[in-house]
Amino acid sequence: MNTTPEAIHENRYVLDQMADGFSAFVESYPSFNQTAVLDKWRAAQYQRLDANGQIYLDYTGGGLYSESQLSEHMELLRTSVLGNPHSANPTSLAMTDLVEDTRQYVLRYFNASPDEYIAIFTANASGALKLVGEAYPFAPAGHFILTFDNHNSVNGIREFAKARGAEITYVPLTTPDLRIDRAELDDIQNSVDMDLNNLFAFPAQSNYSGVKHPLDIIEQAHSKGLDVLLDAAAYVPTSRLDLGVVKPEFVAVSFYKMFGYPTGIGALLIRKAVFQKMKRPWFAGGTVNFASVQGNGYYLAPGEAAFEDGTINYLNIPAIKTGLQHLEKVGINTIGKRVHCLTGWLLENLLSLQHSDGKPMVRIYGPSDTQMRGGTVTLNFYGPDERLLDYRRIEELANEEGISLRTGCFCNPGAGEIAEGLTTEDMKAGLKDGPDLSFPHFLKVIEHRGNKSAGAIRISVGLATNFADVYRFMHFAAGFRDKTNMNIGEVTFDIQSCRVIRDGS
Ligand SMILES: Cc1ncc(COP(=O)(O)O)c(C=O)c1O
Repeated sequence: MNTTPEAIHENRYVLDQMADGFSAFVESYPSFNQTAVLDKWRAAQYQRLDANGQIYLDYTGGGLYSESQLSEHMELLRTSVLGNPHSANPTSLAMTDLVEDTRQYVLRYFNASPDEYIAIFTANASGALKLVGEAYPFAPAGHFILTFDNHNSVNGIREFAKARGAEITYVPLTTPDLRIDRAELDDIQNSVDMDLNNLFAFPAQSNYSGVKHPLDIIEQAHSKGLDVLLDAAAYVPTSRLDLGVVKPEFVAVSFYKMFGYPTGIGALLIRKAVFQKMKRPWFAGGTVNFASVQGNGYYLAPGEAAFEDGTINYLNIPAIKTGLQHLEKVGINTIGKRVHCLTGWLLENLLSLQHSDGKPMVRIYGPSDTQMRGGTVTLNFYGPDERLLDYRRIEELANEEGISLRTGCFCNPGAGEIAEGLTTEDMKAGLKDGPDLSFPHFLKVIEHRGNKSAGAIRISVGLATNFADVYRFMHFAAGFRDKTNMNIGEVTFDIQSCRVIRDGS
């Protein structure tokens, strides 16, 4: 930490300004006061943020855990003797009870009746989505319909669909809000043969733009003969998903996105009505009632066991119940309200940033207001010369301030391509360079095709975000006034080994 007199003076100045900023903020967003309990939670359970001087703005990448979640889980491990579940010995039985109790809690949390849904533990949301892709009965003339706005772990399902001869159709987004084009969706869904197996996949909330897509399209898809896969990974950390109200056939989530700890566990909820038609492509330890080598046959176990390959992450599973209980104590609606207020303030302030000549400093990709959107904001900075400021350099500068934001395409190429005006021709020009294509090389290809760019900066707020976090980010953002690439400096990290090339979350 910089403790020079100048730095201390600068800090006091920022704090004074922040106090004024906060008064103006609560005047514009009075409902923020109803979320004051979250400041208490932050002080009691998330002190490490301030102790480490960290401004965490990557909740869509991963949530943060409370200290009590850790201590409760550690206490359970410290005081119990737990063995690999699904055997009849006492330690195994104790573990089986904890796993099954957590499974029931997951269903209860989402208000999913056990008569209607089963919950399968997976490694993450991607694992849940892959289970659907490999077991859904795609067939020639059947359809896999998905929105442009989807995480790559949903896009990847198209490879299963393609291999089995199903038709694949992407539903476009409207610009600039990046919402599903409802008229196109209608037309596309009207073209399916209702007697075949057809699957429609969309995210409840975009991990790219923060858009909350309307959940009434689930029922609409049902009425047109489609099963629905709802990717709820980015939605459930700040919103309630009530499966008593909407009833997609499949729901995928990652628990670390909801409450930070543990990583390595997600869930697939499957509606029992479609469970029978799912065809697992293999069997594994834990998924069979009986398998024979000489008899060359096997019988899958009934229910969720048929989908849980090998030993599940059993010691961590009880921490899922603890995490869900934590969200219940904190209150998901309170989290949603706070996220709404902070996001509104961020959007207003980012959009009002101007260079001295009046040119806007920031472009937001997605809705510029808080209607039907969550706390994920994706943007780029532009110089007074109207050229994009290199977001990789901006990430480096943010790192120096202890600000965790994310840059790249966030594993959501479809939303990014539409947001950034990239065409099919642009993408084909990049892809023709073959499997050695790297992200930096792709950036060069599209720059030559008309000063285009791919990738952006994403900030996202969540359970433990306070006003100081977003205020400090705005202070950082305002520092790019009148800056061009020439005067923010060169990217210094080793670009060839950089994670942006892989692009994640
Ligand atoms: C909307 C969405 N779906 C799926 C995923 C994949 O989650 P995981 O990496 O935990 O498998 C993510 C991750 O960021 C996401 O935001």
